[in-house]
Amino acid sequence: MSNTVYVLNGPNLNLLGLREPEIYGSDTLDDIADMLEDRARELGLTIDMRQTNHEGMLVDWLHEAQAEGARAVLLNPAAYTHTSIALLDAVKAIRTPVIEVHLSDPATREPFRHHSYVGEAAARTVKGLGARSYLVALDSVTEL
Ligand code: DQA
Repeated sequence: MSNTVYVLNGPNLNLLGLREPEIYGSDTLDDIADMLEDRARELGLTIDMRQTNHEGMLVDWLHEAQAEGARAVLLNPAAYTHTSIALLDAVKAIRTPVIEVHLSDPATREPFRHHSYVGEAAARTVKGLGARSYLVALDSVTEL
């Protein structure tokens, strides 16, 4: 097993910082990557941060995480959280632990955000802390 943690981000998260900052905050994905890299260094981990707007790409990256022996995956599936059985199946298909991450707390938002398919198979979920959700999730990798 390597010390690499994949950090996979789904659709529209490339617009973080500009996109509904009252919900998601003003940090960009690059800002979050910088924060994660600093914390990862302290923890002796390496971050591989990626973003895509395509569902199948997330499935491919989850398979890759397992094939490459990644330590864990932090996954913010964004809107695919609430729609994607393919992502649920991918999380179930790999042995690499997957931590579900959300900036907001979807359970307190519109009803269509209340169910998470990925959450059915994730090792844990960290949500509602803004950018800090990613840091708390990374800290918890060492406890898995
Ligand atoms: C999100 C929550 C989802 O409901 C939403 O579709 C997103 C972002 C979050 O990080 O809070 O795109 O995953």
